[in-house]
Amino acid sequence: MFENLKEQPADTILALMAAYREDPRETKIDLGVGVYKDATGHTPVMRAIKTAEKQLWEQETTKAYTGLAGDPGFADAMIELVLGGSVARGNVAAAATPGGTGAVRQAFDLIRLANPNARVHVSDPTWPNHLSILNHMEIETVMYRYFDGETRGVNFDGMMDDLQKVNAGDVVLVHGCCHNPTGANLNLAQWKELVELLNAKGAIPMVDIAYQGFGDGLEEDAQAVRLIASSCPEVLIAASCSKNFGVYRERTGLLMAVCNDTSRQALNQQSLNFLNRQNYSFPPDHGARLVTMVLTDPALRADWAAELEEVRTSMLGLREQLASELQRLSGSDRFGFIAQHRGMFSRLGAAPELVQKLREDHAIYMVGDSRLNIAGLNKTSVPILADAIIKVGI
Ligand code: LMR
Repeated sequence: MFENLKEQPADTILALMAAYREDPRETKIDLGVGVYKDATGHTPVMRAIKTAEKQLWEQETTKAYTGLAGDPGFADAMIELVLGGSVARGNVAAAATPGGTGAVRQAFDLIRLANPNARVHVSDPTWPNHLSILNHMEIETVMYRYFDGETRGVNFDGMMDDLQKVNAGDVVLVHGCCHNPTGANLNLAQWKELVELLNAKGAIPMVDIAYQGFGDGLEEDAQAVRLIASSCPEVLIAASCSKNFGVYRERTGLLMAVCNDTSRQALNQQSLNFLNRQNYSFPPDHGARLVTMVLTDPALRADWAAELEEVRTSMLGLREQLASELQRLSGSDRFGFIAQHRGMFSRLGAAPELVQKLREDHAIYMVGDSRLNIAGLNKTSVPILADAIIKVGI
């Protein structure tokens, strides 16, 4: 049997991580994988998570299974964080998943279960693993225009034009905030127009929200997903806790299926439970429990929100510094978009050869599509990056 296995395509982001690790140059800079790093290059355990971990060690008396959808307290806390009061709890079915990727995968599985003919429309570009999973699951995928290579903002007219072609029952995948890989996002007026179009077409929005709190703030970053959840009859939401709680390796995420018809909630919930059981049975609990403890304890929550705000503003500061350094070196405003983008990433819009030159000549690692992880920078490496960008001719 094993002789039939073929080499699978390497994940571009994970391959880059490996190449970085193998580079012996001491001056190397990692702007690849989307992991937050502080000014010393370390990915810390957040203070509130560490405190919760200590409390959990003291208090936890069993490791017996939770429920198939995870601990209900986790779903309640996350639904409140992501959706606020925008929809009634009774309209949401939810299941804990192994990370945000697990939620994405389970969402695609649910789509296939509910409507095998549904196509999934994704932004061009999107997170490469969206495409990889869809391809692996043999779900038909259609790309809609998203990134404007000239302005490095959103090509909203192109996006709306392409989405005119969605069929009723198709799914349109959007990034709730902090678009990965571009950093370019819709404004609220554009989100409203998009919602109107999707409703007119009978398409189902699926929101991937992996960076809440990394863009404009916890509440601000949830505006789009709340608007969508309260305006569309059916919505899928894949939420990740990896980044905003810093619990990457704990694999903590939640899939939500929102439906304006409350009578369907029980069946939706049963379907989510079923899919968890088929794919991995009970979802991991440790990270979910820590997140629940942090969100439900006012002191821990305040400390977490404060630390997340420090993370967010430090990334904004690095964006400003990089944009102004590039303005100084290039004598132009053509890099102003870096300060406008939000979240962990910005796409420079540079040719792959130039990205490779950055790697070969300057030991600067960013994803081949010129996505850079802002959090991989610090005050000292910003001028080094800016200088290299100009030297390679971006
Ligand atoms: C990224 O885009 O770098 C992150 O979401 C990490 C990953 O799994 O790819």
